[in-house]
Parts: sequence; C-alpha cells; structure tokens
Amino acid sequence: MSEIINIVNAKVWVKGKILEGGITIIGDRIAKIGKESALKKAERTFDAGGRLLLPGFIDVHTHLRDFELSYKEDFSSGTTAAVAGGFTTVLDMSNNKPPTMTPEIVRARIQKAEGNLFCDVGFYATPRSPKEVDNLVDSGCIAMKIYMSKPLDYERYSTEREIIELIKKTSSAGIVLSVHAEDPNMIKRFKGDLSPELHARSHPIKAEERAIDMVIRASKISGGKLHICHVSTLEGLNKIKSAKRKGVDVTCEATPHHTVLTNEVFEKLGKKSIVEPPLRSKRHMEAILKGISKGDVDILVTDHAPHTLGEKDGGSPGFPGLETAVPIFFTLVRDGLLTLDRVIDAFTINPAERFSLPDAGKIEVGRMANLTMINLKSERKIDSDKFFSKSKFSPFDGMVVKACVHATFIRGRAVFLDGEIVSSKKAGKILHG
Ligand code: NCD
Ligand code: ZN
Ligand code: ZN
Ligand code: ZN
Repeated sequence: MSEIINIVNAKVWVKGKILEGGITIIGDRIAKIGKESALKKAERTFDAGGRLLLPGFIDVHTHLRDFELSYKEDFSSGTTAAVAGGFTTVLDMSNNKPPTMTPEIVRARIQKAEGNLFCDVGFYATPRSPKEVDNLVDSGCIAMKIYMSKPLDYERYSTEREIIELIKKTSSAGIVLSVHAEDPNMIKRFKGDLSPELHARSHPIKAEERAIDMVIRASKISGGKLHICHVSTLEGLNKIKSAKRKGVDVTCEATPHHTVLTNEVFEKLGKKSIVEPPLRSKRHMEAILKGISKGDVDILVTDHAPHTLGEKDGGSPGFPGLETAVPIFFTLVRDGLLTLDRVIDAFTINPAERFSLPDAGKIEVGRMANLTMINLKSERKIDSDKFFSKSKFSPFDGMVVKACVHATFIRGRAVFLDGEIVSSKKAGKILHG
C-alpha cells in the first residue's frame, strides 16, 4: 500500500483562490483537498504552519549545463539549486557543450540525467535545420529554442523565411518555438574584454525590438506557436502586446534581473552584472514590471546561467538564478507591486499550459504531488555563498527579500525544508513528450 501523508494548516492555492485547510497525498499523487476534517486518515502529517501551499513551480529557462560544462553546473547540483529555489520542474536549455542539437545528444543527456535529478526535468534542443525537428522530438526533447544572434553551431535562423520554415515544423510537432530574440545584424561587435557598459551598447534596444518584430511576423504568417525568451525592453514588450491583440499565437517570459535591476548596478558590480540581454535603464525595468502586473508577460523564469567567478571576470554573460527568483518575486508581492495570483500563475499554470506539461501547474486531485511552500513572513539578505548551485555569485547579493521557499515537495515527499536538502533520494524524472 502507498503511504498516506496529510499536509495540514496550509493556505492551499486551488483554482486561483486560497483555501484554508490541507491536502492528502497517497503515494506520489494528490488524493484529497479540503478542510482538515475532510482529509483522509494519514500515517504522517506535515504542519504547514499557515504558510502558502502552491502547485510546484516551473522554470522553463534553466541552463543545467553538465557534460563538458560540469564545472559550472551539473544535473545534480543544478536540480538541487532548483528545489532549494522552490522549483519542481525545470526545462534545460540547449546551448551546452556539446550543444543539444542531435537526437544522440538528447538521448545522452537523458541517460546521464536519469537517477541524478532532484526535480523533474525536460530538455530543450536546437534543430540544425527544420528537417530535424521530428527526429529530435522522437529522441525525447520537449521544447525547442533558437539563438538568433549566437548560433550554437552555424545553424541559421535569422531571416523571416528561415524562421517561418522552422516554426511551421515545431508547431506541427506540437512544440512552441522559444526564441532568444536579438537581431544579429544589429549586434555591435567590439574587440577585446567588454565592460558592462560596452557590452550593453553592443546589445542595443533596437536589436531586440527588430528581432521580436520579425519573429512575430513569422508566427503570424505561419500561424505557428512562438515564445519570446527574457524580454528586456519596453519597445519589445509593446510589439508583443500589440501582436497578442491581433491574435498572434505569441507568449513571453521575464527574468527577475530585468524586473528589479537596472544598468545603475554596472559600476558597483562590474563584469558580474553582464547578462544577455543586458540590464537596461529604469524605463525598461518599469515596463517589464508593469507587463508582469498586467499579464502581458505570461511566464516568469530564472534564466539560471551559472558561470565560474573567473569566467565572469572574463565577461561571460548570465547569473545563477534558481535560488533567488522566487524570493524576489514574492517580495514584490509583499511590497504591493505585484499581486499574488499574477506571480503564482506565471510560475505554475501559465508555463504548464504553454509548454504542455500535463501533470504540473495545478493543485488538483489526481495530479502529481509536486508542491512549493512559501513563507511570506520571513526576512533575510540574499547571500550567494549559501547557494546550492556551483555558481556562487549573484547580482542580488545583499538585497533584502521578504519571502522564502519554506519547503519543496517532489512526488509527495519534502526534498527541501527550511534551508536544507532533507532527502538524498533523487526522485526527479525526465519529462518526455
Ligand atoms: C546564457 C548562458 O550563459 O547560457 N547567458 C545569459 O546571459 N542569459 C545564454 C542565454 O540564455 O542566452
Ligand atoms: Zn537567451
Ligand atoms: Zn538563458
Ligand atoms: Zn522557511
């Protein structure tokens, strides 16, 4: 018989509302939701202490690395950071070494990840050409991303025609095409080591705006499903908003760094502040925050992009983000800048629906008991020394956050609790299509 566990004394997020009560878990699935008196008789009880019990959070933009980039992060360390940050499902990006571009590499990643995961993982791939989409899907990837301005291996997706051809294929395979939208023709190539200011100048606002404009046209012409990664500009977001109004099948995501940081940190953080797309001025940051609050930004992501400190000094773009994203967005809720339902939806049901993750996104009888418990009454400073990620730096170091992940449940069991990994069992599974 499967073990029966009750989580009681919780504020359970059900159908967009808070229900004071709890849930019963039988085996690895949710079996009952209701007031404590309505729950089943359990062998074990977990007292939530009045905290929020939410569907397990999803990050559709994580770089788990591993293989030749294991020194930056590997499947085990990356998914440890994920559960510590409240995530129960992450989608692993394709810009790896070797890049995830062939069915063989997808299979190799799946094989190495199996048994090594603290949370559920699905894999992105980048097709070398539209012809390879079906084979990649057969090999087990569930998402696809293209890097318009930084091809992984000479693949070309920078013209409208190339994108139309690809998006037709991905859409008929049931996959939304994710795009790093920066027009390669607008990226300025400067020589040598870049300061954050120069790096930002090399990735101008127009590069994002033009690329977004172009991929939206491709989506409109083809009728294909499009997802814009890490939108960072007011102009880019406006293009997405007006496309949505015209019925184009486009969604977009935003990161915490583009929501709460500006280029004013360049001076203090130096090269540690380099990320792609770069941090922008205040008017862009405010547009992203407003876009999240209005629902124009559909999905919140970490863009967890771990690097060593030495690599950061050399100008590598990106930040580890798995362990800071959730506290930062719930701090915005506590500060009255975002509502609870916007943040929860953008981490749960919205990514689950857009990326076709049928078992995730909701607390519902029959669903997998992957759950995230949030404490809205904590206060602490972000300290990257304490990260579970191998990448121990953060542009948010020292920032006071007014919320924390109290516990993360994978398949009905607490894996992360009150600052610690409490189960050595790597219960995460690979998500297949
Ligand atoms: C990412 C990385 O390091 O893999 N870096 C980043 O600055 N966001 C690449 C990417 O997502 O474009
Ligand atoms: Zn990107
Ligand atoms: Zn990324
Ligand atoms: Zn706590």
